[in-house]
Amino acid sequence: MIFDYICTMISTFAGTLLDWFSRYGRELPWRQTHDPYAIWLSEVILQQTRIQQGRDYWERFLQRFPTVELLAAATEDEVLRLWQGLGYYSRARNLHKAAQQIVALGAFPTTLEGIRSLQGVGDYTAAAVASIAFGVDAAAVDGNVYRVLSRYFGVETPINTPQGKRDFTLLATSLLPAGKAGAFNQALMDFGAIQCTPRSPRCVVCPLVETCEALRTGRVDDLPVKRPKTKVLERRLAYIYIRYKGEVAIHRRGAGDIWQGLWEPLLLEGDAQFDAGLPMLLLAKDVKHLLTHRILLADFYLVDAKEKPSLPEGYIWIAESELDRYAKPRLVERLLEYLPD
Ligand code: ADE
Repeated sequence: MIFDYICTMISTFAGTLLDWFSRYGRELPWRQTHDPYAIWLSEVILQQTRIQQGRDYWERFLQRFPTVELLAAATEDEVLRLWQGLGYYSRARNLHKAAQQIVALGAFPTTLEGIRSLQGVGDYTAAAVASIAFGVDAAAVDGNVYRVLSRYFGVETPINTPQGKRDFTLLATSLLPAGKAGAFNQALMDFGAIQCTPRSPRCVVCPLVETCEALRTGRVDDLPVKRPKTKVLERRLAYIYIRYKGEVAIHRRGAGDIWQGLWEPLLLEGDAQFDAGLPMLLLAKDVKHLLTHRILLADFYLVDAKEKPSLPEGYIWIAESELDRYAKPRLVERLLEYLPD
C-alpha cells in the first residue's frame, strides 16, 4: 500500500512537471539557442543574478563577444568592464579564463566531466550546461530544486550540508527522465521560481497537490530544512613575549580548549589588561587568525625585562634558542616573525 503510494509519487513527478513546464515555463532568450557558449554564459550570469538583470547582461555580452573565441581574445579588463554592476567579479575572471581553456581545447567540451573541468564551473553549472546544451542525463541541483524536492518528497536532510547535497542530487538523478534532462532541470528551476516559491507557495493551483508530502503532513512552511550557520565569533587576545637575559617565559596549554598541549608566551584573553610594570613594545595589532568557527584578533607585545619578573603559575623560563623544540600554535609562530633581531 505505502509502496504503491511512493511509486505513484515518483512516477507522477517528472511527467507532471514536464507538462507544467510546457504550459507555464518562462520564455527566456537562452532557451532559443543550442550554442553551448551562449548557454554556459547564461548559467554563469544567473548564478548570483536575477533573471531580468541577467538577461540584459547576457544580451550585451553576446553582442560584444558573439563567440567564445572573441571572448577569449579580449583583455580581462574589457571583460570586467562589461561585467560591471553584476558583482562577484571572480565569475567574470573565471569566465574569461575558461573561454581561453575552451579555445585551447579546440571546441566546447561536450561531457559532464569536460565541462566541470573549466575554470569556475561547479557541479551545478556543469550539469545545467551539459543537460541543456548536449542532452546529457545530469541533474542540476540549485536552491529551487532543493526546495521543490524536499517539499514534494518530505525530505528533511538539511540542504546546506554535504549530506544534503548528496541526498538531493541522488534523488534528482533518480527522477531524471532519460533524454529530457535539459527540460527537466529547467522545469524544476521554473517550478521553484513560479509555483513552489519560498514563501506563500501556490499550493491551491499546484499540479502536484495530490501527492505532495509536505502538504499532506502540514510541513510546507518547514521545508526545506537549513542547518543554522555556526556563527563565526571574534575572540580577542594578546600575547606578551617576556624575555630576560636570553630566556623567554612560556606555558603549556591545558585540556579543554584549542591548541591543547602546545606552548605559548604569556596570554591575555579578551580585553584583559596587563601591567608588567615595565615598558611593553607593541609588535603588532589586530593580527587576524582564522580558525574553523572563530576569528582570533591578536595583539603582540614584547617586554624586555631588566630584572627577572615573577611569573604566573604554570609558566617556565626557557632559553630562546630552545624555542624551536617546543610545539607552538601557528599564531605564536607568527608572533616570533615580528620579534626584532
Ligand atoms: N537559473 C539558472 N539557470 C536558469 C535557467 N536555465 N533557466 C531559468 N532559471 C535559471
